[in-house]
Amino acid sequence: MQLKSIHIENPLILAPLAGYTDLPFRLLCREYGANLCYTEMISCHGLVYDKTMTMQMTRTVKEEKPVALQLFGADPAKMGEAAEIVSGMNIDIIDINMGCPVKKVIKKGAGAALMKNPKLAAAIIGEVCRRTEKPVTIKIRTGWNHDAIVAPEFARMAEDNGASGVAVHGRTWSQGFAGPVDWLTIARVKKNVTIPVIGNGDIGTYQEAMDARARYGCDGIMIGRAALGNPWIFSPEGPPVTLKGRRDGLMHHLELIQKYCHPDKMLARIKNQAGRYFKGIAGGSFIRRQIYNAMDFAEILDLANAL
Ligand SMILES: Cc1cc2nc3c(=O)[nH]c(=O)nc-3n(C[C@H](O)[C@H](O)[C@H](O)COP(=O)(O)O)c2cc1C
Repeated sequence: MQLKSIHIENPLILAPLAGYTDLPFRLLCREYGANLCYTEMISCHGLVYDKTMTMQMTRTVKEEKPVALQLFGADPAKMGEAAEIVSGMNIDIIDINMGCPVKKVIKKGAGAALMKNPKLAAAIIGEVCRRTEKPVTIKIRTGWNHDAIVAPEFARMAEDNGASGVAVHGRTWSQGFAGPVDWLTIARVKKNVTIPVIGNGDIGTYQEAMDARARYGCDGIMIGRAALGNPWIFSPEGPPVTLKGRRDGLMHHLELIQKYCHPDKMLARIKNQAGRYFKGIAGGSFIRRQIYNAMDFAEILDLANAL
C-alpha cells in the first residue's frame, strides 16, 4: 500500500484507540506484525496551545516507523496549524479523525459530526494538506445513520481535497461500536476512489483480516479492540494457547512500558491492558482480579513473574 511517499508492506494496521495506542503498545504490535500503527486521537487545540499532556501523546521513536498521528478538531485554521507543528516531528502520516462518536467531540462539530458537514470536512482536509508535505489520511464511518450512508462520496471529496488514503469503520455514527459491520459500503468506497482504502470493523483474527482484504478489495485492514491483550493478532500464528505464552507477551509489554513511560503514573491504564492477556485462559479471571488489586507497577511485575 502506498500512501504518497510512504510504502507499507503487508498492510495490517493498528487502529487508533484512545486510552490504549500509546508508544509501548504501538511498538509491541509492530513487533508482532502491525505495519502501521496509529496514535490515540490528539486534539489540535492541545497541540497549538502546547499542552503538556497533548505533547506527551505525540512521542514516537525511530523504531516505530511508519506511524500515523491522528488529529481531531473542527476548525480548519487550528487543524492546519496543528498539522504544521506535527510535521516537524518524527511521524510519517497525519490522519484526521472524522469518525469519533463521543458526545464531547461531536458537540464541537469534530469527529463523526464532520460526516454531516462535508463542506467543513473539505476545508479541514484542504488546510491540513496545504500545511504539510506528509501524507494525509482520514478515518471515517459509513455515514451518520442508515438514511445517510455517504462514505463513498465523502471519500471521493477527501481525495479531491488532497487526502492520500481513507480508513472506513463500517458502521454509522448511530451504531456506535455495535451492530453489523457494513463491508459492502467499504467495498463501494474502494470503487469510488483511486487512493488506498483501509477497511475496519470487528476483525477478530489474522485470517479474518486476510479474508476481508481479499473479499472486499481493501488495500489494508485496520484492527482495534481485538488487538488489546492480543498483539499476536498481527501474526499468522495467532495468540499462544498456554498461560506461559500469554505471560511472556504481557512481560514484554510491561518492559516496553517501563522503558518509555512512568508506570506508576498510568497504573489504571496498565491494569486494563494487562488483564486482557489472560482472556480465554483457564484461571484467567482469577489472574485479572489479582492484577486489578495490585497497588503499584512492581506488584503487577511480581504477579506476572510468578505465573
Ligand atoms: C476504546 C476505544 C477508543 C477509540 N479511540 C479512537 C480514536 O482515538 N480515534 C479513532 O479514529 N477511532 C477510535 N476508536 C475506533 C477504533 O479505531 C475502530 O474504528 C473501532 O473500534 C472499530 O474497529 P474494531 O472493531 O477492530 O475495534 C476507538 C474505539 C474504542 C473501542
